[in-house]
Amino acid sequence: MMKIYGVNGGPRKNWNTATMLEHFLQGARSAGAEVETIHLFDLDYTGCRSCFLCKRRGPTYGRCSYRDGLQPVLEKLRQADGIAFASPIYFHQITAQLRGLLERLFFQYHSFERGGGSLAPQKIETAVLYTMNVTEEEMRRRGYPAVLGDTEQYFSYTFYAEPQRIYAFDTYEFTDYSQYQADYWDEPAKRRWHQEQFPRDCQNAFDAGVQMAARIGTDAGR
Ligand SMILES: Cc1cc2nc3c(=O)[nH]c(=O)nc-3n(C[C@H](O)[C@H](O)[C@H](O)COP(=O)(O)O)c2cc1C
Repeated sequence: MMKIYGVNGGPRKNWNTATMLEHFLQGARSAGAEVETIHLFDLDYTGCRSCFLCKRRGPTYGRCSYRDGLQPVLEKLRQADGIAFASPIYFHQITAQLRGLLERLFFQYHSFERGGGSLAPQKIETAVLYTMNVTEEEMRRRGYPAVLGDTEQYFSYTFYAEPQRIYAFDTYEFTDYSQYQADYWDEPAKRRWHQEQFPRDCQNAFDAGVQMAARIGTDAGR
């Protein structure tokens, strides 16, 4: 059975990012995938430690073998047909936790051999789901796509397929804005957007999950 993992790179388990990811996985499940969520903030790990076990001749070649809370996750992701990575945007970037995972996920498959490409054992479909406070227009004006694109190109290179990008903009950040010093934000406008647009963003995420499962199904049938 096809397996699609959802990696939550955000700290909040019931907020915008986790909700988008949940919709993505529901879509994938509705299209026949077995799905599993991994909450990175529950795990104890760091980014790449430059131990180079993944480059060493022998059984650890091509495998991140540093033993900590991430290692079992990396073992699981090795078997994946698809992976959806979700992150709130922090200072124009994905979170440090997701970055830490990606350093290790990518680097183990990054060949130092002459003429070597990716060491990933099979094609893995990927999607990235971003949620952020800014509007789409502001995101572009502030240059986020270029910054995020630098990381996205490693998905294509490593897993032999372009990642699908899914966004939620202008997200609602607190349950009660009156409790916070946050009058920079236009709360009524944000609440309206949250009520009207966020359900559509979730539907987009759901549809993307269906599409990923369909792409995997088509590949398997070839
Ligand atoms: C530390 C921190 C930094 C943030 N930086 C940005 C940013 O650079 N741009 C942006 O649009 N939103 C930024 N945000 C807002 C979050 O990306 C946004 O509220 C997101 O939807 C939160 O996801 P969550 O509801 O799943 O926690 C930041 C939030 C935090 C906590």
